[in-house]
Amino acid sequence: MRKIAFWLAAALVSVCMAGSSAAAQTSSHAVDAEGHQWWQHAVFYEIYPRSFADSNNDGIGDLKGITSKLDYLRDLGVDAMWITPCFPSPQVDFGYDVSDYENIDPMYGTLADFDVLVSEAKKRDIHIVLDFVVNHTSDQHKWFLDSKSSRTSAHRDWYIWRDGKGPGEPPNNWVSLFGGSAWKFDPATNQYYYHFFYAAQPDLNWRNPAVKDAMFEVTRWWYKRGVAGFRLDAVETLFEDPGLHDNPIASPGKNAYGDPIEKNEYNSKLPELHEVLRGLRKVADESDGVLIGETWTADVAELNEYYGKGNNELQLPMDFLFAMVNKLSPAEFRKQIAAVNAASGWPTFVISNHDIVRSYDRYGDGKHNDQIAKLMAALYLTLRGTPIMYYGEEIGMKTTPPTRKEDVKDPIGRTGWPEEKGRDGERTPMQWDESENAGFSTGTPWLPVPPTYKTHNVADESKDLGSVLEFYKSVLKLRHTNRALLDGNYSAINEDDANVLSYVRLYKDQGVVVALNMSDTQRTVKLDLRSTGFASVERLLATGQSAAAGTEVSLEPYAVFIGELRK
Ligand code: GLC
Repeated sequence: MRKIAFWLAAALVSVCMAGSSAAAQTSSHAVDAEGHQWWQHAVFYEIYPRSFADSNNDGIGDLKGITSKLDYLRDLGVDAMWITPCFPSPQVDFGYDVSDYENIDPMYGTLADFDVLVSEAKKRDIHIVLDFVVNHTSDQHKWFLDSKSSRTSAHRDWYIWRDGKGPGEPPNNWVSLFGGSAWKFDPATNQYYYHFFYAAQPDLNWRNPAVKDAMFEVTRWWYKRGVAGFRLDAVETLFEDPGLHDNPIASPGKNAYGDPIEKNEYNSKLPELHEVLRGLRKVADESDGVLIGETWTADVAELNEYYGKGNNELQLPMDFLFAMVNKLSPAEFRKQIAAVNAASGWPTFVISNHDIVRSYDRYGDGKHNDQIAKLMAALYLTLRGTPIMYYGEEIGMKTTPPTRKEDVKDPIGRTGWPEEKGRDGERTPMQWDESENAGFSTGTPWLPVPPTYKTHNVADESKDLGSVLEFYKSVLKLRHTNRALLDGNYSAINEDDANVLSYVRLYKDQGVVVALNMSDTQRTVKLDLRSTGFASVERLLATGQSAAAGTEVSLEPYAVFIGELRK
């Protein structure tokens, strides 16, 4: 979990409000009498547009490609998609270096294509959420080009410029997350600019009110075009200590890039960022928009800060601590779920994304991988909260990293090779069918299609009731139609069991029990329903190799049991 450890290092540095009351503030658009908002009942799906579907066969996915797959997404049970950056960009960080916030990169299509995507998605009740890169722009953005043009340019103070400490010496010891000093010297104006990520991604100066106004306007512009919200990228690093104090060293030695291992005390998670989030939320509320956060929190107290006091910041800050459990440990999942469940806002669960090793590899044991993929699906799709899927997870796509340095596309993989191989492995083309290039493109895909497309692809799995895909579909269907799964309270049961994770979801007179065998041997569990008001299992709702009689559930290795309870 290179990236995870990575971000954890960066991370070093209440009111108990139920979901329905969190939603009550914007109850005008509630989807039920209890004030739930659409995003609380929605399943989100992250799309990495380069890799999803290529309509013009240039080897790179595009918006028309996404539009062509909307029926697939609807049938799968997706209610909203988050598209990672598709704006004009030199693509140094594959779109996370934006050179124009209010357009579409020609490689992905046009604004007209985007409008078609929005309207076609709407016909299928699918919301579109864009990725807003708030911390930095591309060094090719017109704001930065003007900023660097002279010390007195109109946009000079839109970025962080400082004098060096001395000749050839950057202003302080901060290192970039992507390697090397976080300061780049610009000989034209004889100053350094700050970049938490690549040098081609200069940090915006959020202390400048003009930056704030311009960025808030960007979101308003897209809301008017029909987007339902934003995933806010890298929110933690919006602000830096104005005194530029050196960061302390977190541990001895060097990281994959040969840099000292710092604690990001002075350039991450500064309290000022919450004021920006409140501002973005105000604009979001004008359009009933939802804000998802890339929030690598160290604990639930931090997560609560992102919800904001009175739930006035992010509606859906991601809980990566859940994804970071990283092993099939009922005790650890129980602990993390309980913590997030008691947080001050509505939980958001993810198990994979474009920056971390896919869940298939992180949890798979090499022998029961498909069954474990189903187990993980059953877990995060039956919890109280909003799940965010990652494309390909539903068919059991695995991480396929490059084997030679010269094949690496993600620059951090080239800088950090071999310790850090970059993120290409989790960004490979979607596996649609068994045809050449997995049906992604008839051109040469920008990243090679993994050989597993022969065994794991949408077309074949759709015909196989025992596939990972069909399992996802059945659990997603259940989740959308079962009130206890949508809105019920979460309570752990059988908490002493070291192998099987069991919990109930209770809504008025409806109850659902979930039992997940996280071990490689057959297990029998006597469900302890005493605190639930229910007596036994009424019927099986979904399973991967399990059965129940009364309160006794028997589970094959890594099996899933989801059942309805009766009084
Ligand atoms: C976020 C993105 C990641 C990107 C970085 C810089 O962490 O998820 O892919 O490289 O921000 O924008």
